[in-house]
Amino acid sequence: MRTTVGKSFRTPAKHAALNAHLGREAAALTHMNYWLKPVIWYDMSAGDAETQPDQQWSENCSAGIFARHARTIAGFEDRGAVFRDVQITLSEKARNTYDLLLVNLDLQLPQLGYERRSTTRWVFEGKQGHTVDLNVEMQDSAQMTFDGISRDQVVFLCIDPNNMTGVHINDQAHRNLFGENRRTTMFVTMGCNPGGLKMLPLEARENWFKVTEPLERRLANTHDIVIAAIDNDRARWGYLVVVPEGWRDKYTKSFVKQFLDNGFALKHASIRNQENEYEHIQRYLFLTNKENEQRNNTQQQRSNTQGELFNGFN
Ligand SMILES: C[S@@+](CC[C@H](N)C(=O)[O-])C[C@H]1O[C@@H](n2cnc3c(N)ncnc32)[C@H](O)[C@@H]1O
Repeated sequence: MRTTVGKSFRTPAKHAALNAHLGREAAALTHMNYWLKPVIWYDMSAGDAETQPDQQWSENCSAGIFARHARTIAGFEDRGAVFRDVQITLSEKARNTYDLLLVNLDLQLPQLGYERRSTTRWVFEGKQGHTVDLNVEMQDSAQMTFDGISRDQVVFLCIDPNNMTGVHINDQAHRNLFGENRRTTMFVTMGCNPGGLKMLPLEARENWFKVTEPLERRLANTHDIVIAAIDNDRARWGYLVVVPEGWRDKYTKSFVKQFLDNGFALKHASIRNQENEYEHIQRYLFLTNKENEQRNNTQQQRSNTQGELFNGFN
């Protein structure tokens, strides 16, 4: 029997949410006649794209979901006013998983209308000469720097590692993706190790702050971050999306619905609208109660010291 990577009972909810998310993003793009450069979608932790025989491939693995919705942008149907080229990069760092990914893509992509152009490249031909160019790379996404992305380009990133040491966005990548008000959108699964987030040492869990803090600092003034956690989940799985602020409520509603339909209630907050609750959920996900208390105490001590220093000037 083949083994599948990173599957848990929460996986269908994640795929339903990603599917709805990219469906919306793709449909919206066919109605915008600005930012006409190729749309860039990165799957930073592609996995093996293995699904169960009774599952629809294009809805039950990130590679399938990417491949399905990207076609809308390049003109799968006549619906929509504007079509664009799409470049998809699927990255997978584990050799065996990467090999299986290629086998599954070869099996499934032709059924979505893609043609194989090399061992690692498939192309879908849409309308008016627009294409989806899908490439697979065996690489560690943490090393990617995203050079060459311009400010007027639409970029989407999916990060879905097995644990928080899996994918790291380095400084250069952060600048290229989020610097100067860039509009990169994201879908991140956090704490996705079946052993449970709290099973890992603090140093490993703190890596998530290294992902979220620079995002918060560089967030485009047109965008928002929504953090969500499954209610009463002992393993404390969480999700984070970066979306245009104007679309936030629709995206959040749809996200919550996909999880509810799969039996999970979510608590969620946006950094722009509910900063305290956002911080609270983040700490609930990344820290144990004790660590959280220690962090609060340290912050309290710092603000007391600052208060004393300030008083000293009076
Ligand atoms: C949860 S699975 C991915 C599932 C897939 N996204 C899906 O929804 O079908 C996590 C995968 O991410 C890969 N991974 C983790 N860290 C990575 C990194 N830094 N670069 C590339 N792949 C990574 C792992 O090898 C594993 O195959």
